[in-house]
Amino acid sequence: MRRFVVIGRTARSTPDFKLQDLPGTSGRLDVLVRCVRAALLCSHTIRDDTIVYLVMLGGPPRALRIDGALAQYVRPDERNLAVLVQKALSRVTSAEGFVELRQGIAVAAGGLDVVLADLGESSPYVLDEAGVDVREATLSTPRPVFFCGDHLGLDDAARAALSPLSPSPVSVGPVSVHAEDAITIVANELDRRRANFR
Ligand SMILES: C[S@@+](CC[C@H](N)C(=O)[O-])C[C@H]1O[C@@H](n2cnc3c(N)ncnc32)[C@H](O)[C@@H]1O
Repeated sequence: MRRFVVIGRTARSTPDFKLQDLPGTSGRLDVLVRCVRAALLCSHTIRDDTIVYLVMLGGPPRALRIDGALAQYVRPDERNLAVLVQKALSRVTSAEGFVELRQGIAVAAGGLDVVLADLGESSPYVLDEAGVDVREATLSTPRPVFFCGDHLGLDDAARAALSPLSPSPVSVGPVSVHAEDAITIVANELDRRRANFR
């Protein structure tokens, strides 16, 4: 089981964005949906060992959880993924914690706090250019969770919220890459390690 949490500092938390201009109208939700694809989807299949959380802070904070073991009909293209997020954001909930909308897809009122409460026991890592090289890092199993910034990176508020967990900083290389590329590299590293233990 691996989990990725992507924190969207500007990503709209309301469904009033245009699918035909996602980057221009959604506070860069396009970055977050590409992270979903990178974390959860591989060629012709969904990863049943992966859960992705999106935190949308461009408005009243909302969080989305997609569980690869349960979710169906998750398509790899940006538009379909944006429709999935838009439908989830249309569901207004004041319940505590995540509310399942359909199998494997759940939404919550709240931001990183509600995600941290949902994670339970885990080995936390933060994707950070200045961290330990992922090739050298001890990536604890069975419950690693990786926190990733959006196009703006993680701000002080996110780092402060994460600090009680003392996440280990992990780098995928010396160059600052797009969030979804950092996730792809981590997923690949985990795949390689698992293959070695088969
Ligand atoms: C486009 S980067 C953000 C860049 C932003 N200028 C900053 O300084 O954080 C988006 C996110 O991808 C992850 N990331 C990007 N490059 C990385 C790297 N080389 N190693 C680890 N994580 C990386 C980080 O979590 C980062 O917050």
